Amino acid sequence: MNELDRLVRPAVASVSLSAIKAMAIRAAAIEDAVSLSWGLPSFRTPAPIRAAVARELERDPEIGKYALPAGLPELRQAVTVTHAAKTGVTVDADRHVLITAGNMEGISTLLRVLLDPGDEVVLTDPGFVSHYSQVQLRDGRPIPWALDETAGWRLNPDTLSELITPRTKAILLVTPSNPTGTIFRRDELLKIGKIVQQNNLLIIIDDPYSYFTYENKADYFNLASQAELFDNLAYLFTFSKAYAMSGWRLGYMIVPDNLRREALKVHDATIICAPRISQMAGLAALTGDASHLEEFETILGRRRALICERLDRLAHVFAYVKPQGAYYVFPRILVEHDSDFDFAVGLLEKAKVAVTPGSGFGPGGEHHVRMAFCVDDDTINLAFDRMERHFGH
Ligand SMILES: Cc1ncc(COP(=O)(O)O)c(C=O)c1O
Repeated sequence: MNELDRLVRPAVASVSLSAIKAMAIRAAAIEDAVSLSWGLPSFRTPAPIRAAVARELERDPEIGKYALPAGLPELRQAVTVTHAAKTGVTVDADRHVLITAGNMEGISTLLRVLLDPGDEVVLTDPGFVSHYSQVQLRDGRPIPWALDETAGWRLNPDTLSELITPRTKAILLVTPSNPTGTIFRRDELLKIGKIVQQNNLLIIIDDPYSYFTYENKADYFNLASQAELFDNLAYLFTFSKAYAMSGWRLGYMIVPDNLRREALKVHDATIICAPRISQMAGLAALTGDASHLEEFETILGRRRALICERLDRLAHVFAYVKPQGAYYVFPRILVEHDSDFDFAVGLLEKAKVAVTPGSGFGPGGEHHVRMAFCVDDDTINLAFDRMERHFGH
């Protein structure tokens, strides 16, 4: 132990680097490892967005400067139009919209507004790794809410009330889910909304994947469409996945005015503003040609079919629930193993295939791995050829 370790807060020291990045780093150190580990889509930022940014770079002398913390007025206005079209709910660009440097920053900002040490946030289990870390880094307590694997990784709203304590501040949901791909049902979400309202809590919807629902479009339900929940709901959308803009670091949150006022202070004190040039990219994304959305979904749909077919051929190694949305599958490991972490490390070292160990997504992820199928067909095929060779047919 280094003497300076005493300077580090225990809450930080006890958090591990996300399992996703940890595997990505290990994979990068192994020559020609093939990775299904990171949910980084293979797509390039669409041409109309790139062209608009190139134009703005030349045209706008302010482009390289800070924006005001809430974000550019024209982008906030475009967000209100998009939000109304998606949800039927009218929001005010000045009172309810905050432009963020992506949903990770947005959620971190909100958690800093909400949590005192010891406060609790209910997270699905399995759920997104970084949500667990973000709550812990705030000295908060993530409360795992088990998804039911035997029912296709469904939520059970009837078990929510027993998880709520006087310390509960929020419930955080991702639908379609990372890592299971589940689309949570309308009736489940409405029940959750009621419980949240009755207990005067906040429901946070982190939305990277709602454009990827394949043949299950009709099953997707956005709780932000319920105007009566407005005061208890934070809706965060990120451009990272739907617009292939993960490196631009851009998202937005729609929140009641009191939360927006507080969030603005935290956001300003932390990053001042989302990069202005990314905000111009976001404006082009929301107001320009969006035909890529369908194209991305079609391609991802084909990759989903491919990975499911390849998993079927390894039915003695993995049992999986077909993902309804997003681009992850979360199979259970059927072969002998000590821990999912050891399994994943062994697979990387012996077969040169990187997957993410499931226990990184909460206790319910034990004995599972997450595979991301946002990579191209050749990568999926190569990974499964190697696994077939490694495990035998
Ligand atoms: C559930 C979830 N939230 C947030 C993010 C990251 O969002 P952003 O790039 O907007 O910070 C991801 C990325 O994988 C994700 O899966």
